[in-house]
Amino acid sequence: MPRRIVVTSGKGGVGKTTVVANLGVKLAEMGQRVVLIDSDLGLNNLDVIMGVENKVVYDIIDVVEGRCPVKRALVAVDGNPNLFVMPSAHSYDKSYISGQNLRVVTERLSETFDYVIVDCPAGIEMGFHRAVASSSEAIVVTTPDISSLHDANKVIKMLGSYDMHITGLVINQVRGDLMVTSDMMNVEDIVSLLEVIPVGILPSDDVVGIHSSVGIPITAGNNIYDAIGVMANNIHFGENKLYDCTKRYKGFFGKIRRDVKRRV
Ligand SMILES: Nc1ncnc2c1ncn2[C@@H]1O[C@H](COP(=O)(O)OP(=O)(O)O)[C@@H](O)[C@H]1O
Ligand SMILES: [Mg+2]
Repeated sequence: MPRRIVVTSGKGGVGKTTVVANLGVKLAEMGQRVVLIDSDLGLNNLDVIMGVENKVVYDIIDVVEGRCPVKRALVAVDGNPNLFVMPSAHSYDKSYISGQNLRVVTERLSETFDYVIVDCPAGIEMGFHRAVASSSEAIVVTTPDISSLHDANKVIKMLGSYDMHITGLVINQVRGDLMVTSDMMNVEDIVSLLEVIPVGILPSDDVVGIHSSVGIPITAGNNIYDAIGVMANNIHFGENKLYDCTKRYKGFFGKIRRDVKRRV
């Protein structure tokens, strides 16, 4: 059964595009056929993060306005035959795209893909409603910060008015060192505040920005890669495991790591 999932948050800059890109790569590595849709019209980020911006010929507005068939606008991601990107418009010329327009695109793509993952723009205006209307499941991304939690809460309530399943919460940019010392809200408290099951706990890690800027996927051998793997398994297999970002900051060596982290 193909899945059409929107990744949303309310607040910008919390990691929606990062989650879409890395979840997409992981699911494709697991053998799933995956297409990632950038619905942030005019602010194309996803094609840049995926390293395909130079290969873009058509975009989603061309598809909706009938200038090219859906599949011709897809851009293949190098190194992974299962992974494609549907780019957003590079310049937003005020073309009107409705939720229904986008839904037609996601439904068409779900005929040949296992996962259609929609990257939602920030905010709770037209772009949010358009992205949400195109999907049947939602993943809500938040950071442990109060403003992000506030916006996530608002978005979760708004999703309640749609006929859609909330697949789960991704808590991103978690600082394990600060959680151990109670300087950052912990996972249990965030989950009980938002009342949505967690599907991903992702540590804050500089490799995210480094890999995004060069458009290559995060590779094995660091914490964030492992955490993304746990998240993908939870989403794909319905597992219920949580990556523990605090583990390496506990105990004797953990205290040393915390002290060092505080100084850098
Ligand atoms: N887990 C993380 N650790 C470190 N930096 C991150 C992490 N997740 C996202 N970022 C960085 O935060 C910024 C915003 O992320 P992005 O995915 O573009 O957010 P959004 O799509 O919600 O606006 C980017 O510079 C990205 O590299
Ligand atoms: Mg984004």
